[in-house]
Amino acid sequence: MTLRLGDIAPDFEADTTEGRVSFHQWLGNSWGVLFSHPKNYTPVCTTELGYTAKLKPEFDKRNVKAIGLSVDELKDHEGWSRDIAETQGTPLNFPLIADPDFKVANLYGMIHPNASDRFTVRSVFVIDPNKKVRLTLTYPASTGRNFDEILRVIDSLQLTDQYKVATPVNWKPGDDVIIVPSVNNEDAKKLFPGGWNEIKPYLRVVPSPKR
Ligand code: BEZ
Repeated sequence: MTLRLGDIAPDFEADTTEGRVSFHQWLGNSWGVLFSHPKNYTPVCTTELGYTAKLKPEFDKRNVKAIGLSVDELKDHEGWSRDIAETQGTPLNFPLIADPDFKVANLYGMIHPNASDRFTVRSVFVIDPNKKVRLTLTYPASTGRNFDEILRVIDSLQLTDQYKVATPVNWKPGDDVIIVPSVNNEDAKKLFPGGWNEIKPYLRVVPSPKR
């Protein structure tokens, strides 16, 4: 199954390191980051999960819940969690789904058979409070993801949901933003009374409405 932006994230029930989770109910009114990694007790995955645990205060600030997945048994998650705490300096503080029968992995298209039919690729789904998929990412097993980038995209999504702006290349929170093309200049005057820098009629740069 290919999930596309704007699709409703499929609901599921699964065992996790924090008990049985009913996904939509667990998300509640939060944003979600659902991410898979290939296998427990592997080095890159260990660093990714440790770093994600360190980011918890940043996720909390943005009303985001993280949840990981691998196609291992729950009992294997427990021993590996101890290793993560020991080697990465932060214990797991978000649930890790045990998906040994590939139920969730198949629902979300996390198995790419021509890469591996036994392990999930490194998928990321950012899901908004309406349960819509807002970002998908797929990385190969050998490349650890940049979770700071995932936070940056969430910052952009949350800003652009609130204001009629888009974020330019390499944008960081606080940087200038772009007035979306669907807003004409007359409306832009009301929305951005401080004015903007019109580089081209379609490229109108304004200070971020949220500094
Ligand atoms: C890792 O997490 O280190 C890893 C997993 C599968 C293939 C290569 C690396």
